[in-house]
Parts: sequence; structure tokens; C-alpha cells
Amino acid sequence: MRQRSAWKPVWRFQQRLIQATLATSLIAALTPALAQKPQTESAPWWRHAVFYEIYPRSFADSNNDGLGDLKGITSKLDYLHQLGVDAIWISPCYPSPQFDFGYDVADYENIDPMYGTLADFDELTREAHRRGIRVIMDFVLNHSSSQHPWFLESKSSRTSAKRDWYIWRDGKSAGQPPNNWQSDFGGSAWTRDATTGQYYYHYFEAEQPDLNWRNPAVERAMFDVTRFWHRHGVDGFRLDAVDTLFEDPELKDNPTLAGKNEFGDPQMKNVNNDKLPEVHEELRRLRQVTDENGQVLIGETWTESIDELKAYYGAHNDEIQLPMDFMFATVNKLSAPEFRRQIGLAESAGWPVFVLSNHDMPRAYTRYGDGMHNEQIAKLMAGMMLTLRGTPILYYGEELGMATHPPERKEDVKDPLGISGWPQQKGRDGDRRPMQWSAETNAGFTHVQPWLPVDADFKQHNVAIEKDNPQSLLNFYRALLALRHTNPALLDGEYVPLAGNDANVLAYLRRTKAETIAVVLNFSVESQELEPNWKALGIDSATLKVLLTTSEERAAKQPGIVQLTPYSLVILRAETKGKKAKQE
Ligand code: NOJ
Repeated sequence: MRQRSAWKPVWRFQQRLIQATLATSLIAALTPALAQKPQTESAPWWRHAVFYEIYPRSFADSNNDGLGDLKGITSKLDYLHQLGVDAIWISPCYPSPQFDFGYDVADYENIDPMYGTLADFDELTREAHRRGIRVIMDFVLNHSSSQHPWFLESKSSRTSAKRDWYIWRDGKSAGQPPNNWQSDFGGSAWTRDATTGQYYYHYFEAEQPDLNWRNPAVERAMFDVTRFWHRHGVDGFRLDAVDTLFEDPELKDNPTLAGKNEFGDPQMKNVNNDKLPEVHEELRRLRQVTDENGQVLIGETWTESIDELKAYYGAHNDEIQLPMDFMFATVNKLSAPEFRRQIGLAESAGWPVFVLSNHDMPRAYTRYGDGMHNEQIAKLMAGMMLTLRGTPILYYGEELGMATHPPERKEDVKDPLGISGWPQQKGRDGDRRPMQWSAETNAGFTHVQPWLPVDADFKQHNVAIEKDNPQSLLNFYRALLALRHTNPALLDGEYVPLAGNDANVLAYLRRTKAETIAVVLNFSVESQELEPNWKALGIDSATLKVLLTTSEERAAKQPGIVQLTPYSLVILRAETKGKKAKQE
């Protein structure tokens, strides 16, 4: 019997527990994977784009030194084009001592020789643009490397012309730092420099001194950096650690909380050095400069509330166009209600920016996988990410089912975070292993020993194997991306949540005047059968057509009934009544 509410499961059969190990079936034929650029109206390009983060050390090694490089990336642009991504964000490739693998920049206007040359970069942007792929640089603006000439000059004397480019203070008393602020990587956020006997401030490691954004000369120099990269074809920036650009000028102590963090330091609330109001003023100024050059800003915005996230768009949408939603990214359980809640919140903040994996967090494949249905779950998460209203940012290898396995021994750890935090914090090496191109030695990434060992799973999860398997995760991503790019409702349609309180199913419509897409995702290990009240949703169920599914169930006799095997999804398309009526 049809339920009265717009969305209520109809239990036509008993809910069944299916230990599904069957191969996935895609009911819809896979569409050719060529990315077709979104055609619709006047939305800015980044709203329709799917971004793809490349960690350059680990993506493709063209010269066999065990490290990825720019020519390696260029050689893989056809792969990315066939996958259907519209923009690549390249994690830092500037000259750097590589203490934090590039997040310690020694020259903002060049390329580290280990990655190639500026000419290689120009070739990369040229070739990317030729394929309709935009290029985003990682802009590490909170801090530079302690080897940057600016810092070397700054630390040379108390009267150096660049002294005020960084934050220097006397200690509180002999041997005591100026205040109790802690580094995000453990220990005090202050390091004493013997040359002048003063302390300098670093939110991260001592090798990453914070720039003083209160100094107009710093602002000018950094704004010029964006212009420099504009001349080299860069389409936008991912703003690293943007939360922590400013500090309380009086350097007031932060309140401490009960307990210790993973480094054994007291828990602390960073009220005086995180998300100060000045950050927003600065972002508005930066935005004016990047707007002049048509560059988009993506934010590494670690927010704890929706108001904080909202603030990053700017009161007049004049700050960051794409602040990443880490509240969504850190829903660390496979929970339909939790994701429903976070998506609803993201919708209320502005144009959502969805991320599930990046170089700082365990990969989604590992975080959400249950060990038995990992492939199904990975497809489920992809189905959600790529059908929501908003801009998704993928992480290299996510499309293959790359997993995170942290190093097992401290002596193998390369990440400074893992070195200081071991064994509680094993660092991020496991999230940054070489891209898995094939089942050959070192996953086809390099012919010599790679800088990090390839993941043990590479023989099952790699491009060579997956590209020829119509049921692979890779081909599922390609199908989803193709669907997204050719479907105005998925690009611009409003988001209408369904299945309000369902504990197992996340469902929503994406709707324009002309068509409706319904997305139904089974977050549970049990089969689900549902019959939405399509009529109440303005949908003629006779027009429903399955576009893509991973459900093993035979097609239902009645088109309005949705059958979902464990962890499967269905994407349906319907004509709106209005359109149908017009055609008749
Ligand atoms: C955030 C980056 O994503 C992370 O990898 C880095 O360690 C810190 N910022 C410091 O730059």
C-alpha cells in the first residue's frame, strides 16, 4: 500500500540480510568517458567542475628518480581527460627543502628542480588547457620555509629590513616562550633563534615560520605571487591553512582544556591564533586581486560549525568561492542520517564543496570500507559525492579504490607529523602512496625505489586492470562523471532531501524545471525496498528510467519501486509532469 508521506519505505518483502559478494552490475550502459564540458547558462566554470587533487611526489615519475614530477603529470593528462575531471589542484611544487613535502616554500615563484622547471609547468598548463582541464596551484600563504630568503634575512638581525615579515618576540622570561601556543605538529609554537635571542612563531613546524600578514609588504609580495602564476596560466589557488593567517597582536595565552592531545601536549582551544576576524578582511582583499585575473579560490577551511563555514564565503560572496567542507569530509561513519544532516547544513551555507579524501586524512576507501563490501561502499560514496549539488574534489587514486595503510615501523615514517606523533599519530604517509598505474613493479609509478612504498593492494586496484573492466570502480567514476557533465539537473538542479528520517537510506532529488534526477543510496548491509510517493513529488513514475545503478536486484515490475541490495545505489531520471504535459 502506498504510504502517505512523500518518502516512506514500503516493506513488500521482509528486510533481508544479504552478504553480497556478487559482482556489481551496472544496468545503464557506460557512456563514453570523454569529459563534455558543461554547457548550461551562466554558472561560473568552477560550479560545474570536478576537481582532482594531485600530490605531485606520488603521481607519475617521468625520469625514474622515485619521485613524481610535472612531466609525469603532463603524460597523464589524457587519463584525467578520459576520467572526466575538469581541474587539477597540484599540491605544492615550489622550491622547498621538503621538510613538510612542499608545504614549506623557499621560493613562491619557481618550480622545485625535483619536479622540473617553469618551462615544464608552462607545458603542463598548456596541455591541460588544450584538454579543457584547468590548473590550480596550492598557495601556502600562512607560512614559508625557514630557508626562504625572506626568513633568512628576517632572522639575521633585529633591525633587518625583513624582520617584521615574520612574528618575532622576546620570551616571557628566561627559557620561556612568549606564550602557551602550541604547534599543530606538537610542542611549543615558538622557537628561539640564537642569532638574536628572540623567538619566532610557527603554527606548524619550526621549519615553517608564520608570515606576518599585518605587514603590508608581506601582503603585497603574496598578492604578486598570484599575479605571477596568472601569467603562467594558473586558474586558481587552494589556500593552505587559511584559518591561521592572523594572531592576536597581544599574543594572549590560549585557554587549556582537560586532557592531552596525540603529542602529549595539553588540549587547547586556539581562540587567539585561529580564525581571527582579520582573516576575512584579508580574504576580501585577496579576492579582489584574484578576481581581476579570473582565478578561483578554494579554501582549506577546517570549520567546526556551519556558521564558521558560512563566514568563509563572505557576507557578500566576496571571500572564498569554494571553501572545503571538512565537517562533511569527517563524517567518519557510514551513516545515512549523519550524511543527510551534513549535506543539509552545507546546503544552507552556500555552494557546497565536497571532499572525502585528501593528502592529510585516511582515504575514504579505508575509512568507510567494512572489509567485506569495500567496492560496493566505494561506489556508494562516489555516487553520493558526484550527484550532490556542489563542487566535488577528488583525490588521486580515489577512483581506483586506493587504500590507506600507514607505515608499520617508526623508522619508515617520512612525514614530520608521524615522526613527532608516533605511535599515536602515524602521520600521513599511508594517504600519499604512489599512484597505482598498473600491476607491474612499483605499480608502474617508477622503475626505481619510490619515495614511499606502493600500497600492498596495487595488483587489484590499478588503472591498467580497471580501465578494461566495465564493472570496475574506475569505470563507475567515469560513468558518474559523464552523467554529471551531461545532465543539467545534476549540475544546477536544486537539492531536495527525501527519506527524511530513514536510518539506512539517503535519498534526494536534483531537480530543474525540465527534469528530475532521484538518487537513492543504501547505506546499510541489508537490502532495502522503497516506494516513494512519486506523485506527491510531482513525478510521473511511468517516466522513471534507471540511469545508473549498482543494485543486484532485477528491475522491479513496477517502475516506481526502488530495490537496493546492500550498499548499492540507484540514479533515476524522470520527466516532470509539466514537461510531459507540454509534449502530449
Ligand atoms: C595543510 C596541508 O594540507 C598539510 O599537508 C600541511 O602539513 C599543513 N597545511 C602545513 O602547511
